[in-house]
Amino acid sequence: MPIEASPGGGTLRGESTLSTLEIKNLHAKIEDKEILRGVNLTINQGEVHAMMGVNGSGKSTLAYILMGHPAYEVTEGDILLDGESVLEMEPDERAHKGLFLAFQYPTAIPGVNVANFLRLSANAVQKARFQEANPDAEYKAPPVAEFRKRLVEKMGVLKMDRSFMARYLNEGFSGGEKKRMEILQMAMLEPKFAIMDETDSGLDIDALRIVAEGVNAQLGPGLGVLVITHYQRLLEYIKPQFVHVMINGRIVADGGPELAKELDVKGYDWVRAEFAPEEAPVAAETPALARASLGVKQSLTGRQ
Ligand SMILES: Nc1ncnc2c1ncn2[C@@H]1O[C@H](COP(=O)(O)OP(=O)(O)O)[C@@H](O)[C@H]1O
Ligand SMILES: [Mg+2]
Repeated sequence: MPIEASPGGGTLRGESTLSTLEIKNLHAKIEDKEILRGVNLTINQGEVHAMMGVNGSGKSTLAYILMGHPAYEVTEGDILLDGESVLEMEPDERAHKGLFLAFQYPTAIPGVNVANFLRLSANAVQKARFQEANPDAEYKAPPVAEFRKRLVEKMGVLKMDRSFMARYLNEGFSGGEKKRMEILQMAMLEPKFAIMDETDSGLDIDALRIVAEGVNAQLGPGLGVLVITHYQRLLEYIKPQFVHVMINGRIVADGGPELAKELDVKGYDWVRAEFAPEEAPVAAETPALARASLGVKQSLTGRQ
């Protein structure tokens, strides 16, 4: 006797025990180059964390490794989802378990329209989750009409026109449309943990606001988020409880939202000097104010 899947397929959210994503002493390399050098981070369902850091510090590497990108090799440490290592799991299995990654550079899939793509991916995830919870029952996908209703509802939150559904995935999409597409996919898949890699890059302020609203509408006890960003700007809209700063493949500072603000004013060189003086200086991309104060410091210490 088939059991009807709930519209969200949501056996993951709203459960009484909260899930935890633990990154433990993670070391990783690509093409023999060591990129991550011992990352430790725990995210509980319901929490919003921000990972900040200049370009090249290893943020995207961390995101890709969380999703199981084959190019990166984990050399030490572990990633645990509710105590279970995900390192040996394929990316789709990780998605079934509730991980979701919004890419910094989404790819186009010509010939696959948005509605079909979302229905296929949502069904695959819901089926796997349903079968894990009910190993002896037969999964029945929700009717198309029900799926469409949910889709239209979520698209409304993201202020996406209905005509979007018929377009080919990411083909000819503007930067803002690609990001909205990803947040829409996230809304349809209902992950336990979402990792958003530079979701703000290339967005104007209006698009940023809409994307952030789309994320905020999903926040709640069932979702843990890791927002990866270079700039503090996005964090004005998606407010993290925890802020971490990565330099040269390590988290060198942890704090609350005030850390992001301080970083915005004082710059990454300040974080390095304050928390990781042994690390090489970070690539120069320092706010004007910090550059000015740094100039003073440098002339005092006689450095260049
Ligand atoms: N495919 C690759 N081959 C070689 N080096 C890479 C590759 N991908 C990333 N890197 C290097 O890894 C480091 C971290 O990159 P990345 O994780 O993209 O940083 P971020 O996202 O913080 O800008 C950089 O020095 C980058 O050059
Ligand atoms: Mg990156």
